[in-house]
Amino acid sequence: MDLQIKGKNAIMAGGSAGLGRATAERLAEAGVNLFITARREERLRKAAEEISAKYNTTVTPVVADSSTEDGRQALFDACPNPDILSITIKPPAPNGSFLKVTPEMWRDSVETALIGPVEIMRHYIPGMIDRGWGRIVNIATFSAKNPMIWRLMSGPARSALINYTASVSREIARHGVTINNLLPGIFRTEGMDESFDAYVDAFGLERDREVAMTHFLENNKIPAGFMGESEDLAPMAALLCSPLSRFIVGQNIVIDGGQHSSIF
Ligand SMILES: NC(=O)c1ccc[n+]([C@@H]2O[C@H](COP(=O)([O-])OP(=O)(O)OC[C@H]3O[C@@H](n4cnc5c(N)ncnc54)[C@H](OP(=O)(O)O)[C@@H]3O)[C@@H](O)[C@H]2O)c1
Repeated sequence: MDLQIKGKNAIMAGGSAGLGRATAERLAEAGVNLFITARREERLRKAAEEISAKYNTTVTPVVADSSTEDGRQALFDACPNPDILSITIKPPAPNGSFLKVTPEMWRDSVETALIGPVEIMRHYIPGMIDRGWGRIVNIATFSAKNPMIWRLMSGPARSALINYTASVSREIARHGVTINNLLPGIFRTEGMDESFDAYVDAFGLERDREVAMTHFLENNKIPAGFMGESEDLAPMAALLCSPLSRFIVGQNIVIDGGQHSSIF
């Protein structure tokens, strides 16, 4: 399928690994002029080089933390006029008991998972409206919709994010600019691997991968029978970045192998 985005400027904020990297690859494959950001420089530069070589397209790495003003400014300077904006961030690690969640932890979660994406969107939306076209896709989490007691640092701030985009997307849709969100379930990614120790600590488990993984899968039953790979999300992200998705506005699409059961 031709996504009809060849030559457009596209940002994948959080594009050096996991779901963001896979999305960046689908966009590069479709021929965009790509900008990818991340906090860690070495992995970011390597990803940019690999994607550029694989798809023969321009990929500009921008070291930028989306949760800070300086980081966001670095992105705005590097890519002033994107047509396509996809954003993901890594929220703070799984919490332990809810009684131990402090105001400082909440502030960290909100800065990262809510204010970061909101401020990037707020900066770019006016230009997209002026140019009469734009696509915004947030890669958030299914715990925005399905609360999980160990993901208090991720779910609540993302519930606020999808509340915000539900309103803003309807305000701007008539200008040809859409916002939609993807809500991933359990995916095998570098980020998931890095969070494993925090998960073990949150549940007071043994530091044994097999024991911890068994506990994890018992607590996360996936009807599809397997954990997602990043490629199981990226095609949907790319479709939402395309003119083909012009009638999809303000939606939250859960991609979780059927883990959470609901009709709507
Ligand atoms: N994997 C899962 O099972 C799962 C489940 C539910 C929800 N999610 C959500 O899906 C999203 C992607 O997860 P993932 O597993 O793909 O994570 P990942 O493998 O850690 O990849 C995250 C990417 O974003 C970058 N990044 C993280 N925080 C950033 C920040 N503040 N500013 C700029 N770049 C940042 C990372 O690079 P640097 O670290 O170098 O910045 C990396 O390139 C996250 O929002 C996560 O909460 C994932």
